Amino acid sequence: MTFWILNGPNLNLLGIREPAVYGRKTYGELVEFLERTCHQEGIQVQIFQSNHEGTLIDWVQEAMGKADGIIINPAGYTHTSVALADALKGVPVPGVEVHLSDIAHREDYRRHSFTAEGCIAQFAGEGFESYGKAIRYLKAYLEENCGTDTILK
Ligand code: DQA
Repeated sequence: MTFWILNGPNLNLLGIREPAVYGRKTYGELVEFLERTCHQEGIQVQIFQSNHEGTLIDWVQEAMGKADGIIINPAGYTHTSVALADALKGVPVPGVEVHLSDIAHREDYRRHSFTAEGCIAQFAGEGFESYGKAIRYLKAYLEENCGTDTILK
């Protein structure tokens, strides 16, 4: 089983950016956590980060045929990008959305997620563990759907 984990804008600044909201752990530490968790779960993983909307859209499209599932933290594009949501809806690869912070209890403009509409689930508000939960959820989802020719969202 192979997952692609896509991280959006400013997540490369983890550890520096707004530590009161996102904590003091760095992006490098997040990558180590993701690799360790996927290894423990027997999942192959590729981890990406971009500050550019079009690059994230390209990766969602490229995941077709290469990844069994996508985990995505679209960061600020969560709340703005119809195009990224369309990409997630458009590919037959199930996606799970994650957020480090609890977007439901922050500024009003963070409450709505366009991209969640293209995902099968969302985990938020638990720091790195939001990703841990997403990895285990997506693995269980794919195992349940194993044996079908097409994985339906
Ligand atoms: C975030 C939440 C978004 O609202 C914000 O724009 C981010 C990070 C999170 O992981 O908590 O950049 O996706």
